[in-house]
Amino acid sequence: MAERQFVVCMTGSSGAVYGVRLVDALSMAGAVVHVVLSEPARRVLLYEEGIEDPSPEKLFARPESVVWHGADSVEAAPASGSAGVEAVIVCPCSMGTLGRIAGGYSVGLIGRVADVALKEGRTLILVPRETPLSLIHLENMTRLVRAGAVILPASPGFYHRPKTRDDLIDFVLAKILHRLGVDSALRKPWETPDDLYEDAT
Ligand SMILES: Cc1cc2nc3c(=O)[nH]c(=O)nc-3n(C[C@H](O)[C@H](O)[C@H](O)COP(=O)(O)O)c2cc1C
Repeated sequence: MAERQFVVCMTGSSGAVYGVRLVDALSMAGAVVHVVLSEPARRVLLYEEGIEDPSPEKLFARPESVVWHGADSVEAAPASGSAGVEAVIVCPCSMGTLGRIAGGYSVGLIGRVADVALKEGRTLILVPRETPLSLIHLENMTRLVRAGAVILPASPGFYHRPKTRDDLIDFVLAKILHRLGVDSALRKPWETPDDLYEDAT
C-alpha cells in the first residue's frame, strides 16, 4: 500500500514548535510529509527556537521523510488536486493565512494546498494560536468550518497534569493526530485518575 502523504504548512503564528513536532510525529508514523514554511514562519522560528535558515536537517528528526517546498512553489505536486495528499494541516496558523484561506485567495503554495483540500473535500486542519479573537477572526473561522475545514486551536488542556513544555505540546499534537486517524504513542485515551474523587463526600 502507498505511504500516507500529508502537507504541513507552518505560518507566522507563535507556536512554531507545534509544526516541527507535528512533522516528526507524522514521519515517525511512516508518512511522507510535504512541508511549506511562509516567510514569517521563518522569522518566528528564529525568535522562538533560535533556528536560523531552516532546513529539513535542522528542523526534523527524520528529514528523509520530508519533502521540502518553497512558499512560492505553486508548481509543486501538492498544489494539484491529483496529488496523493490525504490532508493539509496549517500548524501553527496565523490569522493572516486563515483569513486568506477563508477568502479563497489561494496565495502561494500554502493558500493553494488549503484551497485544493477544500475543493477536493479532503481534510484541512487549521491550528490557530491567536487570542483574543476579533469578530473578523471568528467569522473567518465560521466560514471555514462551513466549507469543511477543522479549526483546532492550540489550546492545551490541564486535566492530564502536564509537567513539561513537551506535555503541553503533545496534548495539542494528540488532538491533531486523532483527527487524522494516525496512530501514535502521543494519543492516550483519557482515564479517570484514581484520586479524582478522593475528597468528594
Ligand atoms: C514572534 C511573532 C509571533 C507572532 N505570533 C502570531 C500569532 O500568534 N498569531 C498571528 O496571527 N500572527 C502572529 N504573528 C504575526 C504574523 O507573523 C504576521 O501577521 C504575518 O504577516 C503572517 O504571515 P503568514 O500568514 O504568511 O505566515 C507573529 C509574529 C511574530 C514575529
